[in-house]
Amino acid sequence: EKGGFETFMRKEINEQPGAVADTLRGRIDETGQIVLDEVRMSDQDFRDIDKVFIIACGTSYHAGLVTKYAIEHWTRIPCEVELASEFRYRDPVLDRSTLVVAISQSGETMDTLMAVRHAKDQKARVLSISNTVGSTIPRESDAVLYTRAGIEVAVASTKAFLTQLAACYLVGLHLAQVRGIKYADEVSAVLDELVAAPGKIAKVIENLEPVREMARQCAALGTDRVLFIGRHVGYPVALEGALKLKELAYLHAEGFAAGELKHGPISLIEDGTPVIAIVPSPRGRSLLHDKIISNIQEVKARGAKVIAICEEGDRITAAHADFVFETPASPTLLSPLLTAVPLQEFAAELATALGRDIDQPRNLAKSVTVE
Ligand code: M6R
Repeated sequence: EKGGFETFMRKEINEQPGAVADTLRGRIDETGQIVLDEVRMSDQDFRDIDKVFIIACGTSYHAGLVTKYAIEHWTRIPCEVELASEFRYRDPVLDRSTLVVAISQSGETMDTLMAVRHAKDQKARVLSISNTVGSTIPRESDAVLYTRAGIEVAVASTKAFLTQLAACYLVGLHLAQVRGIKYADEVSAVLDELVAAPGKIAKVIENLEPVREMARQCAALGTDRVLFIGRHVGYPVALEGALKLKELAYLHAEGFAAGELKHGPISLIEDGTPVIAIVPSPRGRSLLHDKIISNIQEVKARGAKVIAICEEGDRITAAHADFVFETPASPTLLSPLLTAVPLQEFAAELATALGRDIDQPRNLAKSVTVE
């Protein structure tokens, strides 16, 4: 049942191109309009939304963080993202024109379910994004968009994460389309890119051996901490890379917004500390690119060993980092679909080299149905 792979996690990493393609299938029509047929909300309901609140836990929360950048850019609707366990115990400002997006692979996470109920009590509309048909969170939501990742067995979320991103992009683009589009050309270009994403994810997966080699080296060197830095959508990817490594390898791993380094975390860097930098495309938003290059220089000056995840052909990054892993070119907002993959593999390989059970890490359950 592991399809020739040694673990479910490896199998699921490899299933990602197909899973993302399945999630997109049938949801973009011939005219480029997004069709969300399982969503029981009218176009007018979507037009009435004046605020979006995304609630989730763990990896699903990271998908939400990425989505904030996309929704605010494409729709100009304010979007907040919050951990469900925090949201449920405070007094958020919500009403009928708030769209609460609950992201949960299992659809059974207790904190997320309680946050959904909390939102509904205040009359907000709830749209859930889930991988589990008929689970509790979708049943209690006004609308549902199912990811079609297939069953995810490994505790560490991989294909569920990528399909959540795909579903979240669809929701963001749908909101942009129904509300009259300020960035019409950009939205249609992004749709084309979204359709091309599975092929690019497959290309990333084919070329992961250098990442595995790097992970084995870290294990052999007895690395006890790994830091991840990113900016913009690279920041949630950094958080996700760190979560994978904590969860699987039981190492101290932390993700930071690269701009925060000098506000504290840079003091963690010692000679040889691995720092994984998620580097944005050098095209277009080159300001962001310049900024992360200076962050790479800052950490290197303190002895860090920098592993950069960057776009193919990015010579500037190659000149500064100790090791680069290149991903195919992609619009910045969609880049997490590609940049998260080497971090999954890095964590899986490092943990395997340390003898961990990557499908069933200690102390963790696949579905967290208690507080
Ligand atoms: O089923 P959910 O998406 O609600 O689960 C949320 C988290 O428990 C989950 O993403 C967890 O963080 C993963 N094990 C991370 O790999």
